[in-house]
Amino acid sequence: MFTIIVKENTQEMAQAAFEVIKGVLDKKPNAVLGLATGSSPIGLYKKMIEDHKLTGRSYKDVVTFNLDEYVRLDRNHSQSYYTFMKEHLFDHIDIDLNNVHIPDGNAADFDAEVRRYEAELSKFHVDVQVMGIGSNGHIGFNEPGTPFTATTHIEALKESTRNDNARFFASIDDVPTHAVTMGIASIMKAKKILLLASTSYKAKAIAAMIHGPVTENCPASVLQSHPDVIVITDKAAASLLADEGH
Ligand code: GLP
Repeated sequence: MFTIIVKENTQEMAQAAFEVIKGVLDKKPNAVLGLATGSSPIGLYKKMIEDHKLTGRSYKDVVTFNLDEYVRLDRNHSQSYYTFMKEHLFDHIDIDLNNVHIPDGNAADFDAEVRRYEAELSKFHVDVQVMGIGSNGHIGFNEPGTPFTATTHIEALKESTRNDNARFFASIDDVPTHAVTMGIASIMKAKKILLLASTSYKAKAIAAMIHGPVTENCPASVLQSHPDVIVITDKAAASLLADEGH
């Protein structure tokens, strides 16, 4: 079930997203948060940091699981998702890094790594999973065509996704070709999903997710069968929705 919240701008989106996270953390200071990278959650992370500094809310008992990581990008590379999470959130709150889980994009044995990550994840129940959406409807790095039954696995990135992400790298050749990602079945186990999307570039994917057929060609469409999905967008991303964006 979708709850759709359309906001004027990314500032207001971040505030609305923070209210959701705050609601979870107020009730459960040792919540399990599913986290995401990309530009969409950055405003939310800023609000979480501000709140931590202002109110002293502690993250020491919070456990986190990230959706994905690039394959064969050094962990300390400026564009690794490990670096992203440190810079945008973890370095600014009192989280215990022992409670942080991000797939290892440099594992010696990827079969073992995907099993290890899924096994670790299954010891917990994610209270809220934050995510963005790819312009092709991907969630995490589950590209179109990924079976809904997939658990954590290695995914070959579509050229369109590599192009979308090329802005963060010196050239398209530097964008990794593969990623380790939580699977769709792993993601669907979260109690609540908080999906953030802005700009008209995401409008088609948002409309397909909400109104389109449930199909592996649009991975996000699987969320139609999740009991609690909060979608926060700006007007542009909501412009192709049936009763929004007027
Ligand atoms: C990447 C991430 C996704 C994210 C998507 C959208 O491909 N793996 O998890 O949702 O980008 O990113 P942005 O929020 O920057 O548009």
